[in-house]
Amino acid sequence: MALIGIDLGTTFCAVAALDERGRPVTVPNRDGDVLTPSAVYLGPDGTAVVGQPALDLALDYPDRVATLVKRRIGYPDLGHPVAGRAFRPETLSAVILRKLAADAAQQLGRVTGCVITVPAYFDDTRRKATMDAGRIAGLDVIDIVDEPSAAALAYSLQGADGATPGTVLVYDLGGGTFDVTVVSLGKKRFRVLAVEGDVRLGGKDWDDKLVGWAADRFQREAGGADPRLDPLSLVALQAAAERAKRTLSKVEQTTLTVSHAGHRVSMPLSRGEFESITKDLLVRTRLTTQQVLRQAGLTWDKIDRVLLVGGSTHMPAVGRMLAEVTGREPDRSLAVSEVVARGAAAHAGIVYQREQGIRRGDTPVHELLADVIEISVNAHSLGVEVKQPDGTRRNDILIAKNTQLPAAVTREYFTIGEGQSRVRVRILQGESPQAAACIPVGECWIDGLPAELPKGSPVEVRCGVAANGRIEVTARDRTSGRSATATIHRPGGLTEAQLTAEAEWVRGLKIQ
Ligand SMILES: Nc1ncnc2c1ncn2[C@@H]1O[C@H](COP(=O)(O)OP(=O)(O)OP(=O)(O)O)[C@@H](O)[C@H]1O
Ligand SMILES: [Mg+2]
Repeated sequence: MALIGIDLGTTFCAVAALDERGRPVTVPNRDGDVLTPSAVYLGPDGTAVVGQPALDLALDYPDRVATLVKRRIGYPDLGHPVAGRAFRPETLSAVILRKLAADAAQQLGRVTGCVITVPAYFDDTRRKATMDAGRIAGLDVIDIVDEPSAAALAYSLQGADGATPGTVLVYDLGGGTFDVTVVSLGKKRFRVLAVEGDVRLGGKDWDDKLVGWAADRFQREAGGADPRLDPLSLVALQAAAERAKRTLSKVEQTTLTVSHAGHRVSMPLSRGEFESITKDLLVRTRLTTQQVLRQAGLTWDKIDRVLLVGGSTHMPAVGRMLAEVTGREPDRSLAVSEVVARGAAAHAGIVYQREQGIRRGDTPVHELLADVIEISVNAHSLGVEVKQPDGTRRNDILIAKNTQLPAAVTREYFTIGEGQSRVRVRILQGESPQAAACIPVGECWIDGLPAELPKGSPVEVRCGVAANGRIEVTARDRTSGRSATATIHRPGGLTEAQLTAEAEWVRGLKIQ
């Protein structure tokens, strides 16, 4: 019986659990690797292959392999077919999750619950979709947790008596997403002060720049044919670009070879050239880093440590840029690719204990994680759409970005017709005063209002954000004082019936 933490990454996943002393440890997959590539191959006979073998198969069957699914999470579809079929991103994420949990169960015994991590900058729709992926996989998702918070938690549990208290900046640059977070670390208290990020910026974008550079050069040298237009040449080029990028993290010079349409061109590439090709991406992360500090209301001299998280922080330019901006050498003591999963396992232990009501001192496991307080903030402002007299729609912000969670605000609305039985409230996430520029989380219907309610009756709506960033809405009819049901209808989200159907499909797969 085990609780696990899962870092469901854009390009790589990791799993961790708590050892007998309550310390989080990474659990390798069946092949002995601590990281499992987030890739799914769907075979013609109802089989699915997850991980490195799926990436290998992509070189021959690119249209049967799904990668970068996390980039599409929160959207109704993957954007392209896999093995000839349209997929929900949740379903393919679920296939990955099932494989990860099955591998972990082989070593740990039955997996009873899990915590899945999400980028801090994920909005409610993406958080809900991630939890749904867990349910489709047949897992009991006891919570979700932000990736940088998980990293900070794992960091503070390192060493004999944990990390020294202080304020840390977590710079998390993965394969597909970028988060930067300021966390105040106490002995048993983690308080997130501010979050900034970009859900579409990661190592993959560095690869794409390199692919573009190499393809242009190939066309010049080999007479015009573009390797990006052939699916087989493209996957091979993408893999070569990613390898070249990794090599340049270690040495100053490498060679990238492109083969396409009977031509083969080898091009030398130096670290300096690579850095100049990708410079604008690094600048984007620098601007976001400076912004988060302003959001936290701090100056660099108040930051005690800069923690690096995510595989892309291996690039030397990242450390150099951060040293320049922050005035201190970044801390590279973390296992950048495993620390998020470890923090998720620790968070699973904390949630489990809280729910079980186990008091400290029962076992060492409990002692380590007992009384740990985690406080996070909302990454996006939460508001409701208000129609103006001139017909325009405004975003009326109820809970501002970077407010401590959990948070809730109560507003009063009025019925506009005689005997109205339901009221509609549109919930928005975003910073713009214009509703159209925000992300609609969904419509919340306040149902079950008493019959014959006069026009203009007050209905109280409480919009809240839970500690894990999920939005909750409750409502009360002020005339009768009774609570009314408040259900959020998410336009792109899965219904219960769809969830069950997708879960059944995933259960029927032979996953290898
Ligand atoms: N030595 C290295 N040099 C440069 N980049 C590297 C190196 N090692 C890994 N990477 C890059 O790091 C990325 C993977 O990092 P990580 O596993 O943290 O991301 P992820 O968890 O899949 O993504 P995300 O957290 O954004 O969802 C890939 O883009 C990979 O190419
Ligand atoms: Mg990650």
